[in-house]
Amino acid sequence: MPNLLMMNQLLNEDILAILEDAAMYAKGEGWKAEEKLFIANLFFEPSTRTRFSFEVAEKKLDLQVLNFSADQSSVLKGETLYDTVKTLEAIGANAVVIRHPQDHYFEELLGKINIPIINAGDGCGHHPTQSLLDLLTIKQEFGSFDGLTVSIHGDIRHSRVARSNAEVLSRLGARVLFSGPKEYKDETNPYGEYVDVDEAIVNSDVVMLLRIQHERHMEKNTNVINEYLEQYGLTKEREKMMKDHAIIMHPAPVNRGVEIDTDLVECERSRIFKQMENGVYVRMAVLKRALQKKTQEEKSNVIY
Ligand code: CP
Repeated sequence: MPNLLMMNQLLNEDILAILEDAAMYAKGEGWKAEEKLFIANLFFEPSTRTRFSFEVAEKKLDLQVLNFSADQSSVLKGETLYDTVKTLEAIGANAVVIRHPQDHYFEELLGKINIPIINAGDGCGHHPTQSLLDLLTIKQEFGSFDGLTVSIHGDIRHSRVARSNAEVLSRLGARVLFSGPKEYKDETNPYGEYVDVDEAIVNSDVVMLLRIQHERHMEKNTNVINEYLEQYGLTKEREKMMKDHAIIMHPAPVNRGVEIDTDLVECERSRIFKQMENGVYVRMAVLKRALQKKTQEEKSNVIY
């Protein structure tokens, strides 16, 4: 089953193939649905970018889009995630895109659902399509990942983007640095080295900022929030310390003036809105992988 759940399920060659397909879609080329295929978008958590870029991607691929709202469905009557997805499968959905607040929500579905599941973000767990669009943005800029230094700044512990990106960037040959408040350190993520914010900024080819994920904090750390920009964020002074060719990325939503100075969000180095545009192309490529009919020989090579 060509699910896409976590980046560590994808081989490097599969990642590069998805990025190549995404680059084709950026040029207006590539596979489109020739028969009626239904795709259901199930968002149990708020989303702007992922939700709407999936919907745009689906419409560009001529897919039939089923948008699900938990608060307009039988979830309010106690229906479980499994029963909701099983129902969509029964009524003809050909794949499901799911965002859910629970880490690894997909484990309860695996082996029981016979249509592809595309993870659009699970709690503090993983966000593979964000990771792929970040990779596409970096590749467009630098051509490859080998030898790059990418620093990830902020709330590392609660970030599914940091978890997905650190593993795959290390695997593709980049050096990953982490920087941020000690309260948000992730001791379980072995793929980055913690350094001081200034050291990270000076050495990076890519400075990747994260929002403080307040909604996932069990207790509020008001100490951390005071003077956050000056202590941990990208100020105008720090931007001047960046390498000449270095770029700024952020998965967004951005808290302007907290993790990044407001004036830097749309500065020349910023690729934040480029990332969003790339999200459409990458999601088209991921949907193609999930839905395109394959010959028997091609099917045997699908590893995720
Ligand atoms: N980056 C990202 O996942 O944004 P949304 O939460 O708006 O989808």
